Amino acid sequence: MTAKAPLIIFDTTLRDGEQSPGASMTRDEKVRIAKSLERMKVDVIEAGFPIASPGDFEAVEAVARSVRDSTVCALARALERDIDRAGEALKPAASGRVHTFIATSPIHMKAKLHMRPEQVLEQAVSAVKHARGFTDDVEFSPEDAGRSEVDFLCRVIEAVIDAGATTINIPDTVGYSIPQHFGELLRQLLERIPNAHRAVFSVHCHNDLGLAVANSLAAVLSGARQVECTINGLGERAGNAALEEVVMTVRTRQDVFPCDTRLNTNQIVPTSRLVSNITGFPVQPNKAIVGANAFAHESGIHQDGVLKSRETYEIMRAQDVGWSENRIVLGKHSGRNAFRSRLKELGIEFDSEQELNEAFTRFKELADKKHEIYDEDLQALVTDVGLEARDERCRLVSLRVCSETGEIPQASVILNVYGEERSGQASGGGPVDAAFKAIDGILQSHSELQLYSVNAITGGTDAQGEVTVRLQKGGRIVNGQGADTDIVIASVKAYLKALNKLLQPKPRAHPQMGEL
Ligand code: KIV
Ligand code: ZN
Repeated sequence: MTAKAPLIIFDTTLRDGEQSPGASMTRDEKVRIAKSLERMKVDVIEAGFPIASPGDFEAVEAVARSVRDSTVCALARALERDIDRAGEALKPAASGRVHTFIATSPIHMKAKLHMRPEQVLEQAVSAVKHARGFTDDVEFSPEDAGRSEVDFLCRVIEAVIDAGATTINIPDTVGYSIPQHFGELLRQLLERIPNAHRAVFSVHCHNDLGLAVANSLAAVLSGARQVECTINGLGERAGNAALEEVVMTVRTRQDVFPCDTRLNTNQIVPTSRLVSNITGFPVQPNKAIVGANAFAHESGIHQDGVLKSRETYEIMRAQDVGWSENRIVLGKHSGRNAFRSRLKELGIEFDSEQELNEAFTRFKELADKKHEIYDEDLQALVTDVGLEARDERCRLVSLRVCSETGEIPQASVILNVYGEERSGQASGGGPVDAAFKAIDGILQSHSELQLYSVNAITGGTDAQGEVTVRLQKGGRIVNGQGADTDIVIASVKAYLKALNKLLQPKPRAHPQMGEL
């Protein structure tokens, strides 16, 4: 049997994913996610947009230093100063790629860039040539390709391949395309551009009409051999194509696709959880592949069928995408070594013994409250540990809530704020409301609560509740997540995580959509 052509998986969770309102990540969080993507054998990790801010630059540099087995990519507009920053940030990479872009649609060229098509073409070519000064691996994107004229696209792409671009990425920037047309666009480009065989063609689809994955796969059937995607479909506005859906469709339907990825699919669920915990973006229960219900059979007919033969109603095996069988993995008598090695199996490693000790102390506290500790509990527990936690400006010292039938719930809270202990009390409609008001009395955050949701991490009434909180202040949106067997404490942890993000300096807005 002849081996199938490789389908390159380019993950942009750390760049386009981070452009979801409220999903900004710290440098260390990005490194943790990048290591998880590397473990999953993602081919290319787009780590950020170095010109956007010093923080973005440092994050790309840190990812480039930590990742060895995936190519690390940095985004740059088609401007020398952007490309210089990208090239600089990628210096420590074992394998680095510069991804440069400029818009080619009539509306973007006229209304945003105020440039004539000939000027755009010239700038694209000189950007690619400049990027080749840093690396042989240069990707070029004609932004808003989905709404660009095909003749012009062909001219630009032919010219940038001649200038040295090795990957040509076709973005459906505004999620406007439909699968039949997008597949046809790729087919035409590959057929009409004389030097197309000298580059890998890639696609990058947004999900505004819910078609990002369908459009990406239609393009793959037409010959695209790289897909840009994100974990959980995170990304600007309605998000990008979800990595897990693209990869599992191609893997499951090998009868249809002429290519396959090299992905270690059993890392999909742990990585999805890590991204959700870090960004505070919950995964909807009915989300394909990584949603809590993705492999749950509710109807009796289905359950009966699956018990008789799994294939009656299941097209994939849950364990192949990394769902554990809800095994009790650890308990209160488990030692530090068992704890460390189970985390290692889950792909979680700590930077220092101090972090491991901190996590182990939390594990023991949890095991006292909850006898059976599952993988999901461990994953939620370790997200709180480490540098991210050390960056906290305010921390919970203690919380007391009184909730009784016929009485108004009361909360008393003590916080450590910039090293100083401060206390507050409040009453509220319920214990969570009272606790949030008590915190607000201390911090005076003046933020607006946009979302509050609770989800049980595992089954049973002693399960940890995972709470997501979204806050808005002055146009800035942040998310926080917290987990605990006590949902009021989980809520307070989530609230404080979000408030801590608001207390950090505001990251600079990503400039690529507005300016050139
Ligand atoms: O959506 C888009 O066009 C992008 C480009 C920078 C590739 O994210
Ligand atoms: Zn995008």
